[in-house]
Amino acid sequence: MILKCMVINATNQLLTHLAYKMTQLTIIVAVANKNVIGINNTLPWHLPEDLKRFKALTMGHHIVMGRKTYESLGRLLPGRTTVIVTRNKHYQVEGAVVVHSIEQALSVCAEDDEVFLIGGAELYQQGFQHADKLYMTEVHTDVEGDAFLPEFDLTQWDEVARESHQAENGLAFSYVTYQRRVIDKSA
Ligand SMILES: NC(=O)c1ccc[n+]([C@@H]2O[C@H](COP(=O)([O-])OP(=O)(O)OC[C@H]3O[C@@H](n4cnc5c(N)ncnc54)[C@H](OP(=O)(O)O)[C@@H]3O)[C@@H](O)[C@H]2O)c1
Repeated sequence: MILKCMVINATNQLLTHLAYKMTQLTIIVAVANKNVIGINNTLPWHLPEDLKRFKALTMGHHIVMGRKTYESLGRLLPGRTTVIVTRNKHYQVEGAVVVHSIEQALSVCAEDDEVFLIGGAELYQQGFQHADKLYMTEVHTDVEGDAFLPEFDLTQWDEVARESHQAENGLAFSYVTYQRRVIDKSA
């Protein structure tokens, strides 16, 4: 009986793993000089062009975020399924899916072909190991911050696209796309 339970448990874990590996996890982040991504639980710049792109890329998909980022948004983003990660077992938000780990977040999104991890710092830190793709908006400005993009190992990523722009308000920014490097095990 114990052995049967162990086998069922292991099979379930494997199925969950396989299910979420069919899903691409994409990190999307905007980052200023010195890796600043936020201050006082908000964004330290005004960049409507980037918000528009964020909306276009994420529309129709699951967006996974930490509880603090959800509270900084203060609302559900229309056309997307909001998944909030918290350790608080009593936390509830009507219209959102509340989960208690990144792994659980990925397993509830298993039907989606692309899931977006949208922050903040704590979630990025844990999400890099699971991510396949990274949309980074480099905001070329010095701003004060209290939330930072965690260091990640650039040697595991290929820069596959880069576009530079200037916002209407004069701010220079670049859209950079990274893809996780595929290691050729046969070489
Ligand atoms: N520039 C950008 O692209 C961007 C994007 C998003 C956010 N931001 C900024 O980032 C800042 C927020 O980042 P943050 O690091 O303070 O907060 P966060 O990552 O948004 O949320 C942290 C919270 O997530 C929950 N959590 C984290 N890891 C967990 C785990 N393994 N299991 C269960 N729950 C977990 C905890 O919630 P509980 O405390 O409820 O347990 C934790 O307090 C803000 O300034 C925001 O504006 C910037």
